[in-house]
Amino acid sequence: MPVIAVDGPAASGKGTIARALAKHFKLPHMDTGLLYRAVALNLWRWGGDPGNEFEAARASGELNLDASDPELRSEPVSKIASSISAYPAVRAALLQRQQDFARQPGGAVLDGRDIGTVIAPDADVKLYVTATPKVRAERRMKELEGRGMRAHYDDVLADIHARDWRDEHRDIAPLKPAPDAIELDTSTLDVEQAIAEALRLVKEKLGV
Ligand code: CDP
Repeated sequence: MPVIAVDGPAASGKGTIARALAKHFKLPHMDTGLLYRAVALNLWRWGGDPGNEFEAARASGELNLDASDPELRSEPVSKIASSISAYPAVRAALLQRQQDFARQPGGAVLDGRDIGTVIAPDADVKLYVTATPKVRAERRMKELEGRGMRAHYDDVLADIHARDWRDEHRDIAPLKPAPDAIELDTSTLDVEQAIAEALRLVKEKLGV
């Protein structure tokens, strides 16, 4: 059974694509960003310092992940997640859980930043989902508004640029396409089109 890795920058649509692929191929799905968000939420609730790797690592143990907790997607937690994900100790603490998920016998879909490069370098298919920062900022605006939150476009765009920079320039597991990844630019595609194109690429690669 196949392992499908879906990587890409913030708000590129990788999560939507990964969920649709999992549904289509009846595979279990892991949104690995949620693990980093859960660490961030733990740290935040407990009043730990996101600037301290040791404290962030302590917040990585015994994660009680409730994916439906709206706090996981809040702005402060997103910011903390982005900074603590650069710590080697945090990444190490989350590694085993992700690799066990990727290695389950029935196959799996995982989405994140380093699935095709670090977590599952032998994945059968690796998609690298991108979109221009402008398009991603517009999508993030809609998502925030949909959740009843007020946001300013310029702030959201600046945040996307800052997050890209941190993801691409960290020393450990930086965001970059695996050499054998298939790139999918969703800038001009709506959700249905992006899913259809992802399915086409994956089927072509798997020969099904
Ligand atoms: O899509 P968005 O960037 O808003 O969020 P996410 O995918 O839920 O990821 C949350 C944070 O965790 C991001 O800022 C990433 O830097 C980090 N992350 C990571 O370092 N490695 C992963 N495999 C997944 C997420």
